[in-house]
Amino acid sequence: MDWDAIILGAGAAGMMAAIEAGRRGRRVLVIDHAQAPGEKIRISGGGRCNFTNLQIAPERFLSQNPRFALSALKRFTQWDFIARMDAAGIAWHEKTLGQLFCDGPATQVVAMLVRDMERAGATLWLGCALGEVRRSGAGFTVETARGIQSAGAVVVATGGKSIPKMGATGYGYRIAGSFGLPMIETRPALVPLTFAEQELAWMRPLAGVSLPGRVSCGKAGFDEALLFTHRGLSGPAVLQISSYWREGKAIHLDLLPGRDVAAELRAARGKLALRSVLGRWLPERLARHLEEAAGVTQTMAELPSAVLDRVAAGIRDWRLVPVGSEGYRTAEVTLGGVDTRALDGRSMAAKTVPGLHFIGEVVDVTGWLGGYNFQWAWSSGWAAGQAI
Ligand code: FDA
Repeated sequence: MDWDAIILGAGAAGMMAAIEAGRRGRRVLVIDHAQAPGEKIRISGGGRCNFTNLQIAPERFLSQNPRFALSALKRFTQWDFIARMDAAGIAWHEKTLGQLFCDGPATQVVAMLVRDMERAGATLWLGCALGEVRRSGAGFTVETARGIQSAGAVVVATGGKSIPKMGATGYGYRIAGSFGLPMIETRPALVPLTFAEQELAWMRPLAGVSLPGRVSCGKAGFDEALLFTHRGLSGPAVLQISSYWREGKAIHLDLLPGRDVAAELRAARGKLALRSVLGRWLPERLARHLEEAAGVTQTMAELPSAVLDRVAAGIRDWRLVPVGSEGYRTAEVTLGGVDTRALDGRSMAAKTVPGLHFIGEVVDVTGWLGGYNFQWAWSSGWAAGQAI
């Protein structure tokens, strides 16, 4: 065997697995077709990398089997990764909702991982295309642009399909399929939602309007910012709900969560225009739109209570039906992937193919927005690194 383990993909999960296996004395080769490792880490969190979340919990991950992620998340926790950041002297801060970001550029995280890989003795081949992975004796062979390599274990860490421009290929799904592993259908997630021309006609003039609100779909709901764009809706609350939304379903916007808008509108009677009253609580352009959409031209005093109640109901429960999403072009992650029922949650190895491991985004485990996806990459990478 040329190597004890070959890790396919030098992203968050692959580098973590390489560090752990290398520290355990394994001869590790990491291969990536990109020219630089950890490109998604570099651009993540607006360049500040939201590297984990303090509130890691299984219900904040989407999967056919949400409990699958628990073992890895418990064995290598957010606190373990924070300890590595501290040891590397990388300053960080907590933003909202337990989200931890670097104070400085995200490249510090990439540099830490690359340095730890080097110290652990792992070999990194960049700009190297990958071909087939095959079983061979007690191990595997991997076709690479630098020739066929053999190893006792192979770890697939090539991520999902999101942002093809950054090198996402869906390669890992193909490898899983070639070994007969079941897949959960993939779809873009943490992605802006798009609307039909009929809605876009009134949404476009609102492009750039952002406000805190609640966006829900079925039983899922998120209280975060939402943003109108030229193509539809975005902002953290909408990205979050995109993971739960399905074609044909409606989403519901609550623009003033927790407020008795009907009572407040009734109390605001007088010579003011509806838009002026709404403008006290909502962005001016949105207030104007709501007034127009309600067909209101009278002052508050002249408006029948039924109209005020209808406006209030619309503000608290605005039903909209997206036609789609912006797709993998802008999606932060890919929902679905290698079916967790085919994997051992402790080692991340395929149950039917000992020695073949899947980690990170390629697996059917998708976190909420807010550092959950990197924590899954760190935890699952760590777990595989202990096993190979
Ligand atoms: P990742 O995609 O990181 O790595 C896969 C590697 O495999 C890449 O280096 C790729 O080049 C390589 N590869 C793919 N196909 C290959 C092939 N055929 N041959 C060879 N190599 C191949 N998450 C979070 O928790 N906090 C955040 O702040 C953000 N922010 C964010 C911003 C943006 C714009 C995006 C797109 C995504 C995020 N995410 C995020 C999500 C996060 O980036 C993602 O969940 C992890 O990077 C997944 O880690 P992986 O290691 O599994 O895949």
